Amino acid sequence: MCGIIGVVGSSDTLKILLEGLSRLEYRGYDSAGVALAGAGETWRARTADGTESVAALVEACREAPAHYRAGLGHTRWATHGAPEAVNAHPHFDCSGTVALIHNGIIENHRELREELESRGHQFTSVTDSEVVAHLVEELRHESYELAEALRRALERVRGAFAIAVMDATEPDVIVAARRISPLVVGTAPGVTYLASDVPAILDRATHFYAVDDDEIVRLSPEGFSARGLDGSPVRLRQLAIDWDLETAEKSGYDDFMTKEIEEQPQAVAQTLLDRRDGEGRIVFDELRISDEELRDVRRVVLVAAGTSLHAAHVAKYAIERWARVSVDVDIASEYRYRDPVVEIGTLVIGVSQSGETIDTIQAMREAQRRGARVVAVTNIVDSSIAREADAVVYTRAGLEVSVASTKAYVAQVCALELFALRLAQIRGTLDAPEIERVWGELLVVPERIATALARRDSYASVAAQLLDATTYFYLGRHLGFTTALEGALKLKEISYLHAEGYAGGELKHGPLALIEPGVVVVAITTDPAMREKILSNVAEVKARGASVVAVASDDDETTEAVADFVLRVPSGDPMTSPMVDIVPLQLLAYSLARGMGRNVDRPRNLAKTVTVE
Ligand code: AGP
Repeated sequence: MCGIIGVVGSSDTLKILLEGLSRLEYRGYDSAGVALAGAGETWRARTADGTESVAALVEACREAPAHYRAGLGHTRWATHGAPEAVNAHPHFDCSGTVALIHNGIIENHRELREELESRGHQFTSVTDSEVVAHLVEELRHESYELAEALRRALERVRGAFAIAVMDATEPDVIVAARRISPLVVGTAPGVTYLASDVPAILDRATHFYAVDDDEIVRLSPEGFSARGLDGSPVRLRQLAIDWDLETAEKSGYDDFMTKEIEEQPQAVAQTLLDRRDGEGRIVFDELRISDEELRDVRRVVLVAAGTSLHAAHVAKYAIERWARVSVDVDIASEYRYRDPVVEIGTLVIGVSQSGETIDTIQAMREAQRRGARVVAVTNIVDSSIAREADAVVYTRAGLEVSVASTKAYVAQVCALELFALRLAQIRGTLDAPEIERVWGELLVVPERIATALARRDSYASVAAQLLDATTYFYLGRHLGFTTALEGALKLKEISYLHAEGYAGGELKHGPLALIEPGVVVVAITTDPAMREKILSNVAEVKARGASVVAVASDDDETTEAVADFVLRVPSGDPMTSPMVDIVPLQLLAYSLARGMGRNVDRPRNLAKTVTVE
């Protein structure tokens, strides 16, 4: 799980690589490197400086040659080999003329390394990736041109890759290939680019193209040619990109997380746009699945990871209540290994912001293999799950950069609730006035979120009083439980504090033993139907010395008397409230993390997109 970038034909090679890497850091940042090629020589700099590796790389490149017109850059999230400069990419062959960058995992690297070492190759890193540089080196010695050398090298490789190579003896060519890990190509007059994701080259290229699995591209200043790894001719799909650079940068906020939290009203509003036709039907232009098929669905299984899994939990409540279909929520990484039962009429929904999470991709593939119809809910157009699924529903949160997912979460909940509503409409389980009412509730969610955001200072002042606490339990019932799960994840990932989310009813079945003075319990009390029960939980933890922070709606007159701190949110329909109630918890986590001096956008050990199992 790394970010890669390449450019050929520019007189500004180094600047393009370094700027691109800074926009790819959300894919990994424990080390970084660039290599430049020209005049028969290769120049390289690599750094491993924790979350500041790209900044350190900028320093390390002060003496770089200015006139080299081809280059590769890489920002790494370590899988094989410690996050040290020697393991940072680009990797070289023995002679130092071939340079290589790789995102993915070469599964058979050990056997390939042994074989190459037995033929005299000298390895300088312990990464899986370096074997490919040496395989290419051998094939170059056999006089294969660079693209054919990489193609043949990849025939020897098992695993996942977005990989690119250049050779200083042919410095106006870069060759790249993809299997599983994402890769795009960009063009501009006289310059051609490659990258893991569009933002890295957004301000440089004018046209963007997706490289699909098992395709290889040869880039030169004039453009690119592509073919299949089996040698077959292919044509790259052009991508319609409507992001601007502003979207890909912080727009004046201190960090991406703040920017993305603030963008949540728009994320929901945009996800709701154009979702009803003139006759009041919920519609998804991109949903390639017929009404008849949806009507016949007997069971829904949602697969996802992390925050997307929490959005899937919300969907279970919505689909079961509105569409009266039985729903299971599965951790994506568990699904494929437990021999899942897929009966006729099973619809599997994979939820993934990035659309590239390997666990979710594999779970969806497993479901497809077993005959399920598979729908992707994703934020990234043309991402892997969008392409592979039978149907897709796009969230429209816009680019999310911060590792901690915020706006993508509310957009996922919104899209999944819309999907639940559509199912209900097709199946006739909700009547027209009720659909109209729920639709109206969805429409006011952006306004409710905006009202909550306007209270950011009051949430921050609660956080300021909790800075000494180290253990948090989040409790909720019904949809408050899903908010508890997501609130706890936000806190743990950006503050590194211990936080767990529980269904309130589970408290007495174990966690209560952990409650003592100093522990903070965050209780979600916004649902009037659940309030009495969750306030009983509050009384139980208070009796044992915990401090209680409640997320309470404006019309709630009972919670204030029992909680130590109250985070007020605008009242509304409990079914749509997960999109609102999460806001104070995102901001609570944010303030605590900032108060502790954490880097909220780049929490330690994590990466935005998890493309390895
Ligand atoms: C969320 O804050 C986390 N960074 C993480 O749990 C994330 O939601 C998970 O890795 C799934 O990512 P995806 O939505 O891109 O599949």
